[in-house]
Amino acid sequence: MKNYKKNILITGGAGFIGSHVVRLFVNKYPDYKIYNLDNLTYAGNLQNLTDIETAPNYTFLKGDIVDAGFLQKIFAEYQFDSVIHLAAESHVDRSISNPLEFVITNVVGTVNLLNAAKNLWLSNKQQSPSENLFYHVSTDEVYGSLDNGGFFTETTSYDPQSPYSASKASSDHFVRAYHNTYKLPIVISNCSNNYGPNQFPEKLIPLFINNIRNNKPLPVYGKGENIRDWLYVVDHARAIDDVYHEGKNGETYNIGGFNEWKNIDLIKVVCKVMDKKLGRKEGESEKLISYVTDRAGHDMRYAIDATKINKELGWKPSLQFEEGITKTIDWYMNNQAWLDNVTSGEYQKYYTKQYTS
Ligand code: NAD
Ligand code: DAU
Repeated sequence: MKNYKKNILITGGAGFIGSHVVRLFVNKYPDYKIYNLDNLTYAGNLQNLTDIETAPNYTFLKGDIVDAGFLQKIFAEYQFDSVIHLAAESHVDRSISNPLEFVITNVVGTVNLLNAAKNLWLSNKQQSPSENLFYHVSTDEVYGSLDNGGFFTETTSYDPQSPYSASKASSDHFVRAYHNTYKLPIVISNCSNNYGPNQFPEKLIPLFINNIRNNKPLPVYGKGENIRDWLYVVDHARAIDDVYHEGKNGETYNIGGFNEWKNIDLIKVVCKVMDKKLGRKEGESEKLISYVTDRAGHDMRYAIDATKINKELGWKPSLQFEEGITKTIDWYMNNQAWLDNVTSGEYQKYYTKQYTS
């Protein structure tokens, strides 16, 4: 059997960002073994990875990070030397209707993983701590809302405002606590809003693309004046690669797109590109815009200062927004079967059956 240079566990690899991270690592590092652990919730979809599913350095493990016994078993069996942890409940609106689910997955699940890593790495004389890393992928939402200008830096105080961001903030604190208390080698990155292929169509951009193609209303929360900082998902995956390899033990890195958009302005761009794609008259898709009741506790503005990762690791976004959004819309329009599939709910039954033994 081949001796791999690294045995990396990536959690949440069937989801939106995770699938791009898994693809990048599997293709770029044939001498690393990549294990993708995912529970295949509504947001996880192995269709996102069909291009690499037979690669010799890739293995899919279906399982739940909330199941501590299962984690102990797979850590013992596969001897992971590092973890890149992305599995989470990720949608703010769902966290408002069901906060406990977010505590269970995002907090308890993360602590279970920390325990499994700690038990293997800190008690196993064969493993060297310098070769181990627990990389926790987090969000800029932990910093709260920038209502009065400025940018989030790595030293901005935590001030989470939604149940989702509170659960992510809590998981970040646990990761730092394990570093401080047990000397577990860790890094954390906090990223702004991602967009691109394979995002579940409950999030703003894919939801609106899907609704425009189906001539359905576009529900703009409040006045559409909230601001987000958008980053193309492949650029986030590249940043994760850089932080995994070059990030310093115990450090945090902010990742952002230097690309702020007011929701309504971004929505108008999406409408315009979709009009062209669908051969509609300019302004046709904008007619679908429908202002609806605001999200409860809706954060006004997020904006990342990504100077540290740029200066220390040399990372910067590779795509301009105009190029990224056109690529994104092209992808969804060329993969309408994917959209139909993930919105039908049928795909999950099929893939769960096919991939579990
Ligand atoms: P996603 O919802 O698309 O994917 C999450 C994945 O985790 C899914 O494949 C799901 O099946 C899996 N999962 C959920 N619960 C699990 C469990 N109990 N056990 C095993 N697997 C489970 O999420 P995403 O948008 O790709 O986000 C990935 C990570 O990046 C999250 O931690 C999120 O907080 C963070 N993040 C997301 C963004 C963004 O804009 N989407 C920005 C910054 C950070
Ligand atoms: O900032 C990083 C975060 O970005 C990630 O941690 C989250 O996992 C990810 O979901 C995202 O959170 P947001 O809440 O910013 O993303 P969402 O796509 O849900 O919404 C983007 C903006 O659009 C937000 O201001 C709410 C608004 N919106 C969203 C939806 C779904 C609407 O106006 N209408 C909608 O239907």
